[in-house]
Amino acid sequence: MEFASSYLTGWQECNMPIGSFFTPAERHGCLRAEDMELRPLGSRGPDISVIGYGGWEAGGAEWGASPPDEQLLATMRTGFDAGITWVDTAEIYGNGRSEELIGRAIQGRQEIMVFTKVASAPRGTGYHPDSIRSAAEGSLGRLGRDVIDLYQLHWLDEKDVPLEETWGAMASLVDVGLVRWIGVSNFTAEAIERCERIRHVDSLQPHLSMLWQERLPLLPLFASNGTGVIAYGTLAFGLLTGAITRETTFEQDDWRSGTHGLRAYGQLFAPGSLESNLEVVDALKPIAERLHVSLARLALAWVLHQDGISGAIAGSRSGEHVRENAAASLVKLSTTDLEEIQTVLRRRGEILTP
Ligand SMILES: NC(=O)c1ccc[n+]([C@@H]2O[C@H](COP(=O)([O-])OP(=O)(O)OC[C@H]3O[C@@H](n4cnc5c(N)ncnc54)[C@H](OP(=O)(O)O)[C@@H]3O)[C@@H](O)[C@H]2O)c1
Repeated sequence: MEFASSYLTGWQECNMPIGSFFTPAERHGCLRAEDMELRPLGSRGPDISVIGYGGWEAGGAEWGASPPDEQLLATMRTGFDAGITWVDTAEIYGNGRSEELIGRAIQGRQEIMVFTKVASAPRGTGYHPDSIRSAAEGSLGRLGRDVIDLYQLHWLDEKDVPLEETWGAMASLVDVGLVRWIGVSNFTAEAIERCERIRHVDSLQPHLSMLWQERLPLLPLFASNGTGVIAYGTLAFGLLTGAITRETTFEQDDWRSGTHGLRAYGQLFAPGSLESNLEVVDALKPIAERLHVSLARLALAWVLHQDGISGAIAGSRSGEHVRENAAASLVKLSTTDLEEIQTVLRRRGEILTP
């Protein structure tokens, strides 16, 4: 049998017979790297692929047993070949290991942008102006790059240093050419406004998924102010992919077991919450089936259809999953599809926006 060669570039396993009628949904599995949608990261940032690679799991801590380095490197490169143009990481992911691995994966791939973060002490290097500079230099060393594309404050923390001083130090990194753009993560609107008085906030990284909508109403406002929004936890840390069931147990060193005290555990994985979230996942399955997409693609596409979103970060240690997630770029949801999803989420009773 003959196959449509145009669909084979970058997606070698996509064997669609020539002459077949491909519905848009069927084509989602056959994304070519050049089909990846790009969106601007705010008013002054670069164009980025709508799906980014998340490097927390690759750091090897807090996610249970880690696969060998070679598998992680191959996973990341699979994402790049599928059209992903950026990776999100942080100095604290695996205590630098995520950045080191990413540095190896992007060797010879100058076109891949790196977005990393500095965290406040004691978990990170700290938010004192001198610490900000040394943290950036540390990240650059691990990444093997001369410049960080996007440097982000991991969360808001003013216990040691006023935000204005920390943000001023971030702006200085741009001035001296160590960093191209600067952003924040897990910030309030008020804190972003304070930063704006000193230097433009190029991006915000909030937690956002069908199961976590706290920041959703604010996103259009940030976008209209020229701040790009890249969302994390878009797959609800695996819950929205269908890979987690009522029988799933997590290792002690996996935060989803509840051992690390992370806030997301309570609403997503704690006994009681997990069951009601899995009911939502069950109710989403017929919608995904009707659209001929996997649950993971549906979850990512939902994020990409929210106002103000520049991109969705998806973390994974599996090349197959990364390829599948990249193809969410082509999933177009109609108003009816979005209403159907909203009905499911509203029924859960925890929806935070009308
Ligand atoms: N700024 C912050 O405070 C913050 C907080 C959390 C995360 N982040 C960033 O956002 C990134 C993404 O968030 P996240 O990784 O925590 O959560 P996520 O992307 O919502 O979910 C990741 C989980 O989903 C699984 N998964 C991914 N694709 C799948 C697929 N197609 N089918 C089945 N399972 C799939 C992964 O397992 P497999 O390995 O098996 O694919 C992994 O366990 C992180 O890596 C990090 O860069 C930032």
